[in-house]
Amino acid sequence: MTTESHQRLLIVDFGSQVTQLIARRLREARIYCEIHPFQKVDGAFLASFAPQAVILSGGPASVVESASPRADPAVFTLGVPVLGICYGQQVMMEQLGGRVEAGHHAEFGRAFVSPADTADPLFAGLFATGREEVWMSHGDRVTALAPGFSVIGASPNAPFAIVADPARHFYAVQFHPEVHHTVNGARILRNFTDLAGFTGDWTMAAYKEQAIAAIRAQVGEARVICGLSGGVDSSVAAVLIHEAIGEQLTCVFVDTGLMRQGEADEVVGLFRDHYNIPLIHADEGDRFLSALAGIDEPEAKRKIIGRLFIEVFEARAREVGDAEFLAQGTLYPDVIESVSFTGGPSVTIKSHHNVGGLPERMHLKLVEPLRELFKDEVRALGRELGLPASFVGRHPFPGPGLAIRCPGAITPEKLAILRKADAVYLEQIRRHGLYDAIWQAFAVLLPVRTVGVMGDGRTYDYVCALRAVTSVDGMTADYYPFDHHFLSETATRIINEVKGINRVTYDITSKPPGTIEWE
Ligand code: XMP
Repeated sequence: MTTESHQRLLIVDFGSQVTQLIARRLREARIYCEIHPFQKVDGAFLASFAPQAVILSGGPASVVESASPRADPAVFTLGVPVLGICYGQQVMMEQLGGRVEAGHHAEFGRAFVSPADTADPLFAGLFATGREEVWMSHGDRVTALAPGFSVIGASPNAPFAIVADPARHFYAVQFHPEVHHTVNGARILRNFTDLAGFTGDWTMAAYKEQAIAAIRAQVGEARVICGLSGGVDSSVAAVLIHEAIGEQLTCVFVDTGLMRQGEADEVVGLFRDHYNIPLIHADEGDRFLSALAGIDEPEAKRKIIGRLFIEVFEARAREVGDAEFLAQGTLYPDVIESVSFTGGPSVTIKSHHNVGGLPERMHLKLVEPLRELFKDEVRALGRELGLPASFVGRHPFPGPGLAIRCPGAITPEKLAILRKADAVYLEQIRRHGLYDAIWQAFAVLLPVRTVGVMGDGRTYDYVCALRAVTSVDGMTADYYPFDHHFLSETATRIINEVKGINRVTYDITSKPPGTIEWE
């Protein structure tokens, strides 16, 4: 997809844990930017990308070590403003003729920077109280400036906290302006993009029109199929593609029998009836449940579901005949190539279910209209496309569905109990106005039965665990601090209204060490 009509900023990634936050802050200021690993950014890349400014990210390496990464020298001869952050600052100083030293300079956490020159355009609107609170995280530090640079801000432990060569519009900061702990960090980044001439021309309305044109150009007269899960990403991708190519798009909704209460009807109703998008509703619950019968190992469940999903999708997609393209709701965080210094693979915690493998198997080309967007931008695009707010704001739901919220072997009876409990729980959350404050909430039916007393009788029923977390991206999470009144009211309702459950617990595990789902 082309984004050439936008002003573009390039972020050169040296592997910092927080590089994505630089992009987030810029996108919030309506500036189009892309993150690329330092190895890939050479003269040819720079010429074709044609950035209007460059930001060099932080990173875990040490500039004083011989094999540590550097920016391609062409970055400094492009004639555009450059901002170096932390490791990016050290790289800039070292490559432009200054000096960096290792050891005994580590500084982590909060610091206060005072200005040496408040007239610099980087400082517009800053230092109202005489100093700025910033967040440091570095081991080495600059000890001699490169020619042309001078100090424009310093902290007690960081004499080169902010340095500048105003003639070339080169800036470098030792702290991380992209993190929230740097109180006015977003303003610093905006001042930098202002002085680089960015006007904030990245809007969802403009993006929508451009994305539609790009889909038409890519697809031509060909047919496209799209797997719908009921989640935000695939829904937004489907509606966008439908606006672009109308009936050339067919959606396939694989109903695994592991959906939540009313979910299949909602998805089919929205897409087939409201949007009039050709939709194949593959009702395959029996097939999935019989393949899962007696299987209690989480990874085994995930593998069976992934395999069946692909088989069903493939078989149903054949009904569309001559589809040439597969649409996927891939997001930008999945696309950013990670910078690895160790090269080793990371451990598999869970085999995530997706439609990976399908394009090669079916000889399909991919259409991925969301691959430049972050999750909240996808939601904004969904609103721009007129998707109902209830759909756009949905909590994430995993591909393997309720199978991974029913530890142990799955039975239709257990799934029915879980569906009811989950519906009561979510209804409670909505009724108390908490849905949007929570990243994800769901019930889990434990494979444990306990003794209880209801009326004058003994019960011996299942335990239900409730989970609700806050998170930014699902990578880390904390449990949601419900008040006790909410918890006791919800537990009472579940026990009274859902036959088969006589005990409710609340999961207060964060991620890590837990994961969000139980399997
Ligand atoms: P975990 O349990 O790994 O979940 O902490 C993180 C986020 O990912 C969702 N999740 C999945 N999503 N396919 C998906 O599409 C999967 O197989 C899958 N497993 C977990 C989970 O709901 C949470 O939002």
